[in-house]
Amino acid sequence: MNENAPAVKPHHTVNYMSESQASESARPSETLAIEPEHHKRARTLIDIEHVDFFYGKSHALHDINLKIKEKLVTAFIGPSGCGKSTLLRCLNRMNDLIDGTRVANGAIKIHGVDIYNPDVDVIELRKRVGMVFQKSNPFPKSIYENIVYGLRLQGINNKSRLDEVVERSLRGAALWEEVRDRLHDSALGLSGGQQQRLCIARAIAVEPEIILMDEPCSALDPIATAKVEELIHELKKDYTIVIVTHNMQQAGRCSDMTAFFYLGKLIEFDATEKIFTNPSQKQTEDYITGRFG
Ligand SMILES: Nc1ncnc2c1ncn2[C@@H]1O[C@H](COP(=O)(O)OP(=O)(O)OP(=O)(O)O)[C@@H](O)[C@H]1O
Ligand SMILES: [Mg+2]
Repeated sequence: MNENAPAVKPHHTVNYMSESQASESARPSETLAIEPEHHKRARTLIDIEHVDFFYGKSHALHDINLKIKEKLVTAFIGPSGCGKSTLLRCLNRMNDLIDGTRVANGAIKIHGVDIYNPDVDVIELRKRVGMVFQKSNPFPKSIYENIVYGLRLQGINNKSRLDEVVERSLRGAALWEEVRDRLHDSALGLSGGQQQRLCIARAIAVEPEIILMDEPCSALDPIATAKVEELIHELKKDYTIVIVTHNMQQAGRCSDMTAFFYLGKLIEFDATEKIFTNPSQKQTEDYITGRFG
């Protein structure tokens, strides 16, 4: 096989390897993974340019440059404390809620517009860039009211419109069949996995363009995790998704692109298959093969 031969493994079927297999494949191999054509064609939606970020005096992100493409799933991986959540929260200015934080340099652009520009309406931004957290956080309200919360804030109270959004969002989050008969029961009575899908439904109810997910499955069992992963796969038809995960298998199964961070720096960003089979940087290889982190 020649060096330019396309990757043998189709996308989304990357097999995850034992350490010995992984180090095998990390050797210069005959099978060079290449970025699938549709990734190359995808437009850049979020453009992170030379971003430095501080918590007070603590310099948490160093000169981050990253182009996140539309309707692909991008995974952020790296050891604890490397800045994954910090960068994720920069993308919808959630860090503004923490005192003393600042983006010191650079720009984060969505559709070419710098989201840190003082003219940007942050509420509007967060509507467009929704977020799902590690710990599901349903409001102590009914399933129905959780989903329509954002719409009610916008002053939308028309019952048939809200009913329609509730059904569409719950279907979109693969939860409708499980809860359609108890929409007015408390959301807190749902299982952990259902609560996490409810939070995803709540995020999509306001029709965002981008969904940020910070370790959305870390508190879930394997079955609930599989459901959320299937859901991510479905959602990317309509949304651009950025997911932080510590689970390498999960990054491999659900992402198209992977960014590896270490100590506040972006070490490597490439097609997921490339990162997991033939990373360019030794630090990436050490991390994905479990040698550190
Ligand atoms: N609210 C905060 N105030 C001060 N420092 C913070 C704050 N949140 C995070 N940091 C620091 O910023 C750095 C990056 O943290 P961050 O939470 O982004 O890491 P992470 O990669 O998401 O880690 P984990 O995998 O453990 O969630 C760490 O050194 C952390 O201690
Ligand atoms: Mg984190």
